[in-house]
Amino acid sequence: MLISNTSPNDPAPSWSGIFGNDNPLALEIGCGVGDFIVQMAVLHPDLNFVALDFYNKGCIKTCKRVDKAGLSNVRVLRAEARSFIEACIPAGTLKMVVINCPDPWPKLRHRKRRLVNSGFVDYLSRFMRPEAELYFATDFVDYGLDVAEFMAVQPGFANQLAPEKHKVTSRGNINE
Ligand SMILES: C[S@@+](CC[C@H](N)C(=O)[O-])C[C@H]1O[C@@H](n2cnc3c(N)ncnc32)[C@H](O)[C@@H]1O
Repeated sequence: MLISNTSPNDPAPSWSGIFGNDNPLALEIGCGVGDFIVQMAVLHPDLNFVALDFYNKGCIKTCKRVDKAGLSNVRVLRAEARSFIEACIPAGTLKMVVINCPDPWPKLRHRKRRLVNSGFVDYLSRFMRPEAELYFATDFVDYGLDVAEFMAVQPGFANQLAPEKHKVTSRGNINE
């Protein structure tokens, strides 16, 4: 298991060397305590998963869950998403990016702090392979609607839910 800060001066790591295989990379941004990445890694042994969060305790919990599940296809990184991607992900290499429930910044005056916007997705797309998949979920309605609106016209992406722009699930509380 790997937990590390990244420095822009470090060379990009050799992911095939780290995982010991050439499987494609999948990235979860904001893995929290690791519930999702553990399930995904079990379902997709043919992918190498990087679980990323800047929350230290979450990273440690994720490591423990990954170890408990006996998974060899997950590495956990404590780092800020943009600086990590810039320093550590070679362009055009991600097969999957998952962003589940990013910090919602619900107050109107804080919304500009939200991670996911058109500019961020455009930036992210440079690191994704052709045919790669980007999954986004939120339980904040206005965040979800905003992402659904811009993703419908985001260059280089096709919405897999089309003709719907988004899907509402009944997982739990939805925040207005
Ligand atoms: C609301 S929590 C959701 C956690 C998890 N995905 C879930 O659904 O339970 C958002 C997580 O994203 C992390 N996060 C937010 N912005 C980030 C960034 N720029 N880089 C890395 N992690 C980030 C936070 O530390 C937090 O753990």
